[in-house]
Amino acid sequence: MTATYDAIVLGAGAAGLMCAAQGAQRGRRVLVLDHADEPGRKILISGGGRCNFTNLHTAPERFLSANPHFARSALSRYGPQDFLALVEAHGIAWHEKTLGQLFCDGSARQIVDLLLAECDKGAVTLRCGETIRAVSHADGRFTVRTDSGEASAPALVLATGGPSIPKLGATGLAYDLARQFGLKVVEPRPALVPLTLSGEDALFRELSGVATEVVAGCGKAAFREAALFTHRGLSGPAILQVSSHWRRGEEVAVDFLPDAAPGWLLAAKQERPRTSLQAVLRGLLPTRLADALAERLGLSGVLGETTDKALRAAEARLAGWTFRPTGSEGFAKAEVTVGGISTAELSSKTMEARKMPGLYVIGEAVDVTGWLGGYNFQWAWASGWAAGQAV
Ligand code: FDA
Repeated sequence: MTATYDAIVLGAGAAGLMCAAQGAQRGRRVLVLDHADEPGRKILISGGGRCNFTNLHTAPERFLSANPHFARSALSRYGPQDFLALVEAHGIAWHEKTLGQLFCDGSARQIVDLLLAECDKGAVTLRCGETIRAVSHADGRFTVRTDSGEASAPALVLATGGPSIPKLGATGLAYDLARQFGLKVVEPRPALVPLTLSGEDALFRELSGVATEVVAGCGKAAFREAALFTHRGLSGPAILQVSSHWRRGEEVAVDFLPDAAPGWLLAAKQERPRTSLQAVLRGLLPTRLADALAERLGLSGVLGETTDKALRAAEARLAGWTFRPTGSEGFAKAEVTVGGISTAELSSKTMEARKMPGLYVIGEAVDVTGWLGGYNFQWAWASGWAAGQAV
């Protein structure tokens, strides 16, 4: 026998649970199916276990998409303050860490509990441990078959996220179903992911563990945050941010001294002519990094005996040290996915597919990817909320 609902949501993650709760609180009978044993696994490990659940500086410009305007509607209808109000209504203590990033004081589990409590208010049926075997559409209804039976509804919400971190149960199911129903998918790539170095650049791997604040850039994108050298290449927030923009073959430029005024090295020559470049850099950067950069710049004498031209060239290199990453650590380590189901296929107001009424796509499955720092959950809440008003 086929169980009937008003809406079936595939995926009990951030976006799916938000959508289900909203739809159900509007009186819809909602079923949520997930193949994992428990809901919200990515939420549970997010933000180092404290869930960076939103960002106060949320703005459409902080999201990557083939259509940069797409996210505007959902984000303006359900913003960071809306989710914060929900967090406070559930008595969850929170704090702003840096750059508008809001975290739970306690644990990320509080956010999962909040979502489950909101689902309970609307009597959502949540079934975990369900493998989705097939999805079909006929006579205006979607039918989903799992090992425990069939369910059907006039609305189907794809909320199974992107393929980043398969170990946590991530799959490309949303893309497969989108293609089955004729929707285009923008090539998915790993994002917010460490970059790998080899060849000449690999020498920097000896600095594994060294971190410093930089401005890292790729193309027009530039981020001022910490960069971290790893045994495989580069990581840290600045590099993770840049990785979302980086494509194979492109360079990443790092300004190691973002606060240095132009001409600072010539000024240092005037003030301290008996000092070496290495000693100057040691005063500004972690020692191991200072030594490695001084060695690679190849200026071993004291500043007073180094030509102005050589010092200008050294300053320029320190302000735009280029790395040519050979790759990234891939979907196994990527916090999110750039690309996904094309926004051209969806209504930005309801997230419903234009070609297939009743089919909705929300969260990371959509070609909308936020910066690091709570933006991706905000997109999950906003897109889930938007679809929840429409199913
Ligand atoms: P999400 O991945 O949350 O949920 C998808 C659900 O679908 C999962 O429950 C999964 O089991 C299920 N599913 C997948 N395939 C299925 C299949 N074939 N059949 C049935 N079910 C299936 N963002 C942020 O804003 N702040 C942060 O602090 C962090 N921290 C962070 C840490 C780490 C380690 C990672 C990997 C990611 C983050 N993120 C983050 C990103 C954030 O987790 C992500 O953007 C959202 O979880 C996306 O929400 P969705 O609901 O779209 O997918």
